Amino acid sequence: MTPELLETTRAGLVDELVTRSFGYPAGRRFFEDFPVWGSPEVERLGLIDHGKLISHVGIRKCEMQTSKGPERVALIGAVATDERHRGRGFSSFLLQEALRRIEAAGCTWSLLWGSEHEFYAKQGFRLEGTQWRFLISDLSVPVSGLQSTPPLEGMNERIWSALLARKSGIRFQRSDRDWVFAHRSVRWLSFAEPFSYVAYERGMDLKHIVHEAGGDPTGIQKLLYYLYLECPIAQVIGTESELERMGFHTRDGYRENLCLARPMKSGSAWNPEFWVSGLSAC
Ligand SMILES: CC(C)(COP(=O)(O)OP(=O)(O)OC[C@H]1O[C@@H](n2cnc3c(N)ncnc32)[C@H](O)[C@@H]1OP(=O)(O)O)[C@@H](O)C(=O)NCCC(=O)NCCS
Repeated sequence: MTPELLETTRAGLVDELVTRSFGYPAGRRFFEDFPVWGSPEVERLGLIDHGKLISHVGIRKCEMQTSKGPERVALIGAVATDERHRGRGFSSFLLQEALRRIEAAGCTWSLLWGSEHEFYAKQGFRLEGTQWRFLISDLSVPVSGLQSTPPLEGMNERIWSALLARKSGIRFQRSDRDWVFAHRSVRWLSFAEPFSYVAYERGMDLKHIVHEAGGDPTGIQKLLYYLYLECPIAQVIGTESELERMGFHTRDGYRENLCLARPMKSGSAWNPEFWVSGLSAC
């Protein structure tokens, strides 16, 4: 029997399949780290066999901000096939179906994250983009000025407004609010006056890593230092300009690829301005 394509797979079924497929430890769920895949803002394409979800690919269509205006792109994630059904072409089938839909929607690029480069290369994906990574201990400012009172803990409306107002990377929409607030494994720290915030960690993927930051640069440095005192190996990722603004020098950092990407139109050139922060990388 050929599995049946299910265009709007129930979120709970996807969480179950992907949690199992990625080998999450007992008691932990994939959706705690990636609640975006449970939101109504995404498409969940599944294959059903005898009433069971055996393979899944998620699509989030969104806008990449550039100096020439927004570009429509798609992020792909929660790609998994049940262990007993692997090697039969199911993920490839769903990925091809996803790419057809993304192309039809007029997106210029599809982006995803994963270590299975060979598998994704078969569908036309290659490493693209740049991200910088530093140890917080590489911060080039005098530590004496960074002692501070403990920051506020937790996501709040002010941080959300700052995320909505960001001028680079994937644009957040008001409709993204629920899934952004739903991250259970992201730790948000902020100072109210002057306002600054950072986001630290996201499950297995971004362990010991600061992946969002904004507001007053001195406040950000204090937040980073606060995390460094808790975890001396903590790191921060971001764009070159963002990290320079925080007080890092590129000579101390590591330059790495941002994602796997596939152009959706012949001749599409990668724009070096493209950026995806940890919260959207999925
Ligand atoms: C990776 C995964 C989604 C592949 O699913 P699948 O349904 O078995 O994939 P397919 O049968 O469509 O495989 C397509 C091709 O990729 C190859 N391939 C499959 N998994 C691969 C992997 N992990 N690394 C490299 N190549 C892989 C297959 O051998 C096959 O090659 P062929 O076309 O030459 O025969 C599945 O192994 C899985 O769920 N893994 C755990 C979760 C995960 O890692 N997801 C992806 C990270 S975002």
